[in-house]
Amino acid sequence: MRFLIEGLQSIWRNIGYGLVARRYEGLDLYAMMHMFWFSRAIHTMADLRLADHLKQPRTARELAELTGCQADPLERLLMFLKSSGVLTLDGQSRFQLHRRALTMASDAAISLRPWADVLGNEVWKAATQLTQTVRSGTGGFELATGQTYWEFLAGHADRRACFDEGMGIWTQVHSPEVVRKLRLKDRKVLVDVGGGGGRMMIAILKANPHLQGIVFDREETMSTARRNIAEAGLSDRLQARSGNFLEDVPEGDSYLIKHALHDWRDEFATQILQAVRRRTPENGRLFIVDAVLGQDRAGERFRRLLDIQQLLWTREGKERTQDDFTKLLSAARFRLDKVRRTAFHDVSVIEASPTR
Ligand SMILES: C[S@@+](CC[C@H](N)C(=O)[O-])C[C@H]1O[C@@H](n2cnc3c(N)ncnc32)[C@H](O)[C@@H]1O
Repeated sequence: MRFLIEGLQSIWRNIGYGLVARRYEGLDLYAMMHMFWFSRAIHTMADLRLADHLKQPRTARELAELTGCQADPLERLLMFLKSSGVLTLDGQSRFQLHRRALTMASDAAISLRPWADVLGNEVWKAATQLTQTVRSGTGGFELATGQTYWEFLAGHADRRACFDEGMGIWTQVHSPEVVRKLRLKDRKVLVDVGGGGGRMMIAILKANPHLQGIVFDREETMSTARRNIAEAGLSDRLQARSGNFLEDVPEGDSYLIKHALHDWRDEFATQILQAVRRRTPENGRLFIVDAVLGQDRAGERFRRLLDIQQLLWTREGKERTQDDFTKLLSAARFRLDKVRRTAFHDVSVIEASPTR
């Protein structure tokens, strides 16, 4: 206890965190427990669309006018973002985006703004329930709002659009790697189960001109999926169909489930796979794209973080080991054939085939 108090006093005296941490093992937790302030600041940056307003250098007062904020607290936030290496400040008290923060602009080629928005709003709400989720086993979003995330989005079209945009951007980042790992030469109709706005299928069909596709998801995503498909010029080969994957899926000779199984605890994930299995022909093929826990040391911290995020955000979802996938697939009469890694720690392609 004495070392803790002394340690804290040392910090308050501004002796320097590094020195304190060296003297008192464990005090680095003091830094860890404050880390959420960095993410909160970035979420607020996204909410206020600061990066869009910083196409040119601006003072705190100018930014306050553009965002409808009070100049003083906004300036303090801007100074915190500057000290965190997100913004820079010139000799005329004008803030600018640091190079690394260009991705926060809404029109960036790969914009992180919508994902920061989702994390800072719905995921944050879920995260506040961590203790209660660990006690009760119920997902944090449901505890906080009384609804599952997908039910909530069904009643909030603007939040659904934000999620689809954010997810779609990640999927565009993942897609070249995933496309390379899929064995589709002998396939005719691929169904993307929980395919969201269709970004993955668009990339797959562009790379496989012989293939027809179906993006299958909840009714709320259909307008986004149809718009994306039409913009990609693929309306003749790619359909968007709505339904509930816990009950049934459209007919195809191959299936893809990307980052959708990890939204569900085993009981529901099994239901999804069983619905797919009922439609899968004997020569069918299933591709699951998800993280694989325990795959290597380098990505494990990130995958463990995602595992907690899934627990809180979704229907007690989870990341899984290869062994977990083998068991889950076997319960739905599939055999795990191969796991192909990609450059992303949370993206592996698991190939499976039907058994009797
Ligand atoms: C995490 S997103 C993944 C989207 C897409 N596969 C991707 O990687 O970009 C999970 C998707 O599952 C869909 N979903 C959730 N519950 C569903 C249900 N009962 N039936 C069909 N789709 C569902 C969601 O609407 C969402 O688009």
